[in-house]
Amino acid sequence: KKSVVIAGGGSTYTAGIVMMLINNQDKFPLKSLKFYDNDFERQKVVADACEIIIKERAPEIEFVATTDPAIAFSDVDFVMAHIRQGGLKMREMDEKIPMKYDVVGQETCGPGGIAYGMRSITGVIELIDYMEEYSPNAWMLNYSNPASIVAEATRVLRPNAKIINICDMPVAIKQGMADIVGLKSGNDIVDRYYGLNHYGWWTEVLDKDGNDLMPQLKEHVKKFGYGPDTSKDDNDNPLLMEQSWVDTFAKVKDIYAVDPDTLPNTYLKYYLYPDYVVKHTDPTHTRANEVMENREKNVFSECRNITKKGTAQDTTLEAGEHAEFIVQLAGALAYNTHERMLLIVENNGAIANVDDDAMVEVPCIVSKRGYEPLAMGKIPTFQKGMIEQQVSVEKLVVQAYIEKSYQKLWKALTLSATVPSAEVAKLVLDDLQEANKDYWPEL
Ligand code: G6P
Repeated sequence: KKSVVIAGGGSTYTAGIVMMLINNQDKFPLKSLKFYDNDFERQKVVADACEIIIKERAPEIEFVATTDPAIAFSDVDFVMAHIRQGGLKMREMDEKIPMKYDVVGQETCGPGGIAYGMRSITGVIELIDYMEEYSPNAWMLNYSNPASIVAEATRVLRPNAKIINICDMPVAIKQGMADIVGLKSGNDIVDRYYGLNHYGWWTEVLDKDGNDLMPQLKEHVKKFGYGPDTSKDDNDNPLLMEQSWVDTFAKVKDIYAVDPDTLPNTYLKYYLYPDYVVKHTDPTHTRANEVMENREKNVFSECRNITKKGTAQDTTLEAGEHAEFIVQLAGALAYNTHERMLLIVENNGAIANVDDDAMVEVPCIVSKRGYEPLAMGKIPTFQKGMIEQQVSVEKLVVQAYIEKSYQKLWKALTLSATVPSAEVAKLVLDDLQEANKDYWPEL
């Protein structure tokens, strides 16, 4: 039996992971589950509800929620990390400040992602150090965003750490693909994919029998992106509930038009169509507001409900793809399943014509010994150029963090495909620096 600590216990995604762990007690049995957060009050709301859920559904699991790293990180096999330095309040800044200058405002892409990266590095490195001190043999499975910058920072600052950086977006898109071709789950798809986090392309999508799904997917994507076939009215893709996701999934048809040989990650819209994104974003009401008004409110009020009633029998909380992926990954490492999963890893030849020291997102085989990236071969000039530009942005951010260099951070923003000029980069950077003075190293 294994022991897990969830770092970021107060996250709105934590209850989903707990439900998924409970559902997987046959495949991934737990001895203990701990929550860790540096925000006691916030974590308490989620923890009190989860304690009831665990008592009702899997009472054999020992549960504890703490703000003490010594308790949280001792005797664990896995650290599941999904922290948000600065919370949603700072996410709102990341999104709104660039928008003041008509630049994409997004939590992981462009200047907002860079600002968030400068905050996140400190928090994630702290978690690694706790893990290495209290449970040196554990694995950290890290969802904390912006995943690309965080991954590069961990590569440079803690090169020997047992950390695997992951993202559920390709998993969510694969579920969307499964829906389009009429398969039950994204797990029924075997793919070849290469790129960076939130920045990649599928070159092959097969079903488990090896049948090529690309032609059918391309026909669909050409018309509807990853959105539903709007000529039918019996479509209910669960991903498409919120308007911002509906737009993102539909916009894929334009990204696809640029390179019809591949199928894209949805996030490429921020780099290929930044002007469109800016025009279609309300600068006074961004995704952070949407999340605070919806998911944040719903999850927290549902947690309080459970605690008040003392039961979670009829709860609306459920486990989603985000939770499925991280639990599946832990299971593959613990029980040597040799599953094929998309992870963010040091390139080392996986993409033949991209630098070895780039942190790339490629399929890997996961087993007890860790992960083994699969070779994706040489990639075309268009993708190679884009990847090299974006990798340089990410490397400059990490160098700026380590060297406390304003100049390097300015270069990073200037190089981002979301930013039109060095002048605009400087304007945005100066505002972000002011807003982040409690979080960034002093430049
Ligand atoms: C996906 C992405 C994450 C991102 C999340 C944002 O899961 O892979 O990187 O953090 O979406 O979701 P939200 O609902 O908070 O905008």
